[in-house]
Amino acid sequence: MDNSKPANKRITKAVIPAAGLGTRFLPITKSQPKEMVPVVDKPTIQYVVEEAVASGIDDILIITGRGKRAIEDHFDRSFELEAELKKKNDHALLAELETIAELADIHYIRQKVAAGLGHAVLCAKKHIGENAFAVLLGDIITLSDSPCTKDLIGIYERYGASVIAVQPVPIEDVRRYGVIKGEQVDDGLYRIVDLVEKPTPEKAPSNLAVLGRYVLTPAIFDCLEQTKPGLGGEIQLTDALRLLLEREEMYALEATGPRYDIGNKLSWIKATVELALMNEEMGEELRVYLQELLRNK
Ligand code: G1P
Repeated sequence: MDNSKPANKRITKAVIPAAGLGTRFLPITKSQPKEMVPVVDKPTIQYVVEEAVASGIDDILIITGRGKRAIEDHFDRSFELEAELKKKNDHALLAELETIAELADIHYIRQKVAAGLGHAVLCAKKHIGENAFAVLLGDIITLSDSPCTKDLIGIYERYGASVIAVQPVPIEDVRRYGVIKGEQVDDGLYRIVDLVEKPTPEKAPSNLAVLGRYVLTPAIFDCLEQTKPGLGGEIQLTDALRLLLEREEMYALEATGPRYDIGNKLSWIKATVELALMNEEMGEELRVYLQELLRNK
């Protein structure tokens, strides 16, 4: 095992893979990217970008693909809309639109073939260079007082090693996730011993599932280049992480807040309800409505 640790430079870059086809969410995703599916009043990927920014990231590379142009338009200025809002003196909305376009320095690259999550992350190699970086899956929303990615960065700063967010799931659900085997080293913190992509419940090393947030050292790119197509014929990030584990220590941090997979219809509805209940404008009215509705069902 190579014990030379990467220099603990501040993490300022994030990669958001957003090239998946969204087949689990058809027909909603037939002509719009799943990352643009709204949750209350924002597209999913805006929550993801906001989490990155709240974690100290100022440079974001979004991995897109064909049919994903709406993502770029969303984070761009829209002069026609801005002119219209100015005419109407709607300064609040105008400021909100301008803020979206200024959230971070956002770059785009296209994954030309649907060759898997690992391949999507590999597309970021040149942009990232020699520093550790964060990965936030573009269709996953996490909620917590301290942003999930920020907590991962904190662990990276302490240990100088890659760290993955995990969460316990019912054992029958492990087949939908990467699953880790870990040794607990602190409260909610594990040193990873092994990890496997979408195991059967019988073969799963635990019920700690990889939830879609990572901080990775740049050695991952070399590992990705060596990773052969795995499950589904795709280059799996989890398989590359396994190679990384042979070279470097890796940690898993248990995330405390809820996490929603917007590619899954029920999870999307739950995210919508939960975030709407937290919303200042509509939360209280919605609470009363839901209570009434459920009383009558
Ligand atoms: C991907 C990863 C998997 C992870 C999951 C989290 O799978 O390959 O390890 O647990 O994201 O959402 P996907 O959902 O893209 O099939």
